[in-house]
Amino acid sequence: MAGKRLIVMGPPGGGKGTQAKRLQDRYGIVQLSTGDMLRAAVKAGTALGKQAKTVMDAGKLVSDELIVAMIAERISEADCANGFILDGFPRTVLQAESLDKLLKSKGIKLDSVIEVAVPDARLIERVTGRFTCAKCGEGYHDKFKQLRKAGVCDTCGGTEFIRRADDKAETVVARLKAYHDQTAPLMPHYERQGLLKVIDGDRDINVVAAELERVLGA
Ligand code: AP5
Ligand code: MG
Repeated sequence: MAGKRLIVMGPPGGGKGTQAKRLQDRYGIVQLSTGDMLRAAVKAGTALGKQAKTVMDAGKLVSDELIVAMIAERISEADCANGFILDGFPRTVLQAESLDKLLKSKGIKLDSVIEVAVPDARLIERVTGRFTCAKCGEGYHDKFKQLRKAGVCDTCGGTEFIRRADDKAETVVARLKAYHDQTAPLMPHYERQGLLKVIDGDRDINVVAAELERVLGA
């Protein structure tokens, strides 16, 4: 698995982050989540963060130009040399074409593009029940991934938790629309390249993880 370059795609709340983190921990390839990068920029109050916040809170997509520049810079860092998992990028045809060019210029080939497929009806519950540890970022869910001890992070013992500003039910509807309108049309792009692998994400987290490993030949 070392050296793999992967894309994990799927709808909001589909489990991209959950599965990408597992692949990162297990194989030592770095997770690059554009959503996490943007949230870090919002928190730090940078110019990019200020621009992105209004768009994200509305459940819309941040401009291709900003996102492509952000990824081009991040992917050139030393920790990506051993492989990476793109989580939430690309999300438009233009982003996918820009990524193709970027990787070609670096002499890098993608190994697989995973689509974690989950029916719309399941996603609102997944997203609105999500919370993360404020200290280490470990993700949880009110129903599907509960804390072992109430109020205490399993991973780091932290006791503060956060919920995302865009995880309100009405914003999730806008995010889902953006997904169907702008991101779903990407699947044929990767199918043509023979890279697309579709996984049924509407199962237990561990079952999805096991299927992912099997599909990746890990
Ligand atoms: P981003 O952060 O990427 O959000 P998203 O795509 O809406 O996806 P999520 O992070 O909400 O869900 P996920 O698939 O990671 O699910 P998770 O594993 O957490 O983007 C946020 C915003 O940033 C966008 O709206 C946009 O504005 C902007 N942005 C980001 N990238 C961009 C780009 N490339 N271009 C333009 N704009 C961009 O799981 C969800 C919950 O369900 C968790 O609580 C988890 O514990 C639980 N769960 C996971 N798997 C399962 C399972 N199998 N069964 C039951 N529960 C499960
Ligand atoms: Mg995510």
